[in-house]
Formats: sequence, C-alpha cells, structure tokens
Amino acid sequence: MKKIQKKQGFIDAVVGLQWGDEGKGKNIDELLSHGTYSAVARFQGGANAGHTIKSGNMTFIGHIVPSGCLQKNIELYIGNGVVVDAISLVKEIAELKKLGFNVIPRLFISNRAKLVSYLHPFLDQAEESYRNKGGKKIGTTKRGIGPAYSDARARRGLVVGDILLSNFDQKESNLSEFHMNLLRMYKARYGFEFSEEEIKEARKKWLDALKELKKFQICDLSFLIQKRLSEGKNILAEGAQAVMLDIDFGDYPNVTSSNTLPANVCLGLGVSHTYLRNIYGVIKAYTTKVGGGDFPSRIKDEAVEKLFRDAGNEFGATTGRPRMCGWLDLFALRYAIKLSGANKIFINKADICPSDKIKIVTGYKRGKKVLEEFPLYLNQITEVETEDLPGWGNANYGVKDKKKISKELFSYLNYIKEKLSDLEIKIISVGTGPDRNHFFNWDK
Ligand code: IMP
Repeated sequence: MKKIQKKQGFIDAVVGLQWGDEGKGKNIDELLSHGTYSAVARFQGGANAGHTIKSGNMTFIGHIVPSGCLQKNIELYIGNGVVVDAISLVKEIAELKKLGFNVIPRLFISNRAKLVSYLHPFLDQAEESYRNKGGKKIGTTKRGIGPAYSDARARRGLVVGDILLSNFDQKESNLSEFHMNLLRMYKARYGFEFSEEEIKEARKKWLDALKELKKFQICDLSFLIQKRLSEGKNILAEGAQAVMLDIDFGDYPNVTSSNTLPANVCLGLGVSHTYLRNIYGVIKAYTTKVGGGDFPSRIKDEAVEKLFRDAGNEFGATTGRPRMCGWLDLFALRYAIKLSGANKIFINKADICPSDKIKIVTGYKRGKKVLEEFPLYLNQITEVETEDLPGWGNANYGVKDKKKISKELFSYLNYIKEKLSDLEIKIISVGTGPDRNHFFNWDK
C-alpha cells in the first residue's frame, strides 16, 4: 500500500531592506491576519527593535514580544538567536495583559536564547564612551545588545535555560564579577561613570524580572517548530532591524550585533533552510537611519529633511531619537534585495511626501568612479547619483485602490519597478497610512 505523505509546513520571513524602522510590524500583522500562519517567530536581535502595532483604537509598542501579539490565535516564538531582555519582556507582557491580551499561554521562548544581564546595558554605554574617544560612536540603543552577543560568542554568557538551574546564582555571579571588572576598567581608563547604587537597583529589577520569566514557557523551541512544521503548520519569521544593519553586510561597525539577513532564520530558530519559502522585504518610500555612520542618501536640505521627519513621525520607538531622513536609495535597495533574496516587497509610508520634487538615489560615486559593488566603507562615498521626480503632497493618504492614486505616485512606483525589473520581485502592497487597512495592492 502506498504511504500517504503528510504535507509539511513552511516558513516565510519578513525583513527590512533599509536601515530599520520600515514599519514591518504593520505588514507582519497584515500577513498574519490571513490565516496562513500559526505562529510568528523572532530569530535575532533583542529589545533594540521597536514595532508599533495598531488594531482598532489600540496601539501597542513592542520591543521583544513578536508582532503577532494582538492576534489571539497566533503562537509567539522567541528563538535561540535572540538576546532576551527579561525586564522588557515582562513589562510588555504586563502591558498586553492590560490591553486584554494574555499572551503567556501562546508565548514560547527558546531555552537556548541568550540572556541579557543587568550589566549589559552599562557595558553598552561604557563601550560607547570608549568609541567616543575616537569620535566614532555607533549610537546604539543602549539595550546591551552588543555586549550580550559578545558574551555569547566568547562562550561565557548566560542562556535563558540557565535560569532554571540550581547553580544559576553561581553562574550569574561569576559573569557579573567579570562584567564589574570590565566596568571598572572603563571607569579608570575611559572615564565611564556609574554608581554602585544604580547597579544595585538594576540588579534588583533584573532578578525580579527573572522570577517572572521562570513562569513563562521556556522550551526546546527548535523541536517545537519542527513539530509544528510536520503538522503542516506555517510560520512567519520576523526580522528585527534590517539588512543594512547586518553585522557582516552593513556599514561595519555601524551595524547591530546580529545577522539580520533571512539566511539567519534557520540558525536563529533551529530549522533547516529547506523550509524557507517567501522572503518579504519591507521598505519605506523614502529612507531613514538612526545612530552613527554615513548615510549617502540623506536629504541635504535640512528644512526638507525636517518636513519628512515631522510628516512621517520619524522618532525612534525605542529611544525617541530623531531619525535622519533620506531619499529612496535604489543602489542600497538592489544590494539588500540580492543579499536577502526578497521576492515580495512591501512599500510603506507612500502617503508621506511633503515636497514638490523628490529625488531617488540611483548610484554611488567614489571620486570619479561610479561604483558597481556596494562599498565596504560608506565614508568613502563622495557623491550620489540621483534622479528627480515630481512629489505628490498629501494626495494619497488612506487610498486603498491602485486606480485612485495620484499620477505622481503612480510614476514613482512604476519607476522603481522598472529600475529593478531584472530582479524577480513583486511589489505586493503599498502603504498609505498607519491603519491596518491603509494600503493598496500593486502587482497581482
Ligand atoms: P544596537 O543594536 O543597539 O547595538 O545598535 C547598533 C546600531 O543599530 C545603531 O546605529 C542603532 O541605532 C541601530 N539600530 C538598532 N536597532 C534598531 C532598530 O530597531 N531600528 C533602527 N535602527 C536600529
């Protein structure tokens, strides 16, 4: 008798294709609403991410809880590739509870995920003060992301599973002693100030959060995901930050400390690459960046940049920092699409265009040389090549039908599509406002 093969599930991934803050949360929420996926999974990053999700008149700003938290039937996974900030996680879960969402029964955290300790944020700031000596701050989110990943790579860090061990206190105090030695060195050598009081307070808050974390479902998440896939269930992997902040392929060292590329979905969740199917790439109709490093497509006219910042409310959800605003950078976008394998594109914030004319960056120059490859050092870029297109003001706010958009936005989208026509991508949806239904479909 022929054996009946059970249908396996698959994994799709959503990643940002610029420098972060593309508005992925909204797209993830939309994708999850179709019933295709049973779960959403974070595979890298930590509480440095910030996503704003709106549902009806409810707004939730999350940092570490995956974006599907406002959809009651979706399981939420935090993978081994994530650095877990227990204080943020516990706080977000309490906020969700207040909004009427008790996510604990559907939240699963990998026992192999790395634990952010109470001294990592101090070390993050201390490292910035060291970098500042050379005038080269990265402008991190100060959430301890870099130090937590450094400890993991140096094989001295704590993993989430450790909090369940009887010798956790010993492990923690060994690591904390090591951290304190580093902090004292930063104080003596680089003038990094901290008080014993602050540290005591941070430790107390962290230990309280760990007590709560112990009550959550800490498990072998790789095993659970494989089980779900074998049950025929599909999973959406949620990228944090974006391709241009990838530790290997971004503008090093002005990057985050993890691989943000979808290639890391498999390692950050513990599944084989054979399950990966669609890669959804998210961009904004313009570009933003926070933190240090160069930003070739930055709008040179400060008044125009401010118009974009204000119209797009471009202030960090995690840090409140004003974001630098730039034109859409097709040279960087091509690089990001090729690296990520994105085949379906979301364009967000296409309603934001507070100027009569807009530019699109089409190439980078180093001296007289027009670059073919994306450069290792962005600070060597002397000029960008641009093309001008007419702007569209407020004309497209809330438009939900492709036929109703202004001719300027139509030309803009056609221009992008044409310039990237050699890549196998579909622009599936274009956002025209903050609400879940503020978008129209572009390619069929
Ligand atoms: P870290 O990830 O906090 O170490 O910060 C490293 C760099 O990544 C800094 O330039 C941050 O501003 C940037 N970054 C980190 N997370 C995000 C994010 O969610 N959106 C945008 N930029 C981010």
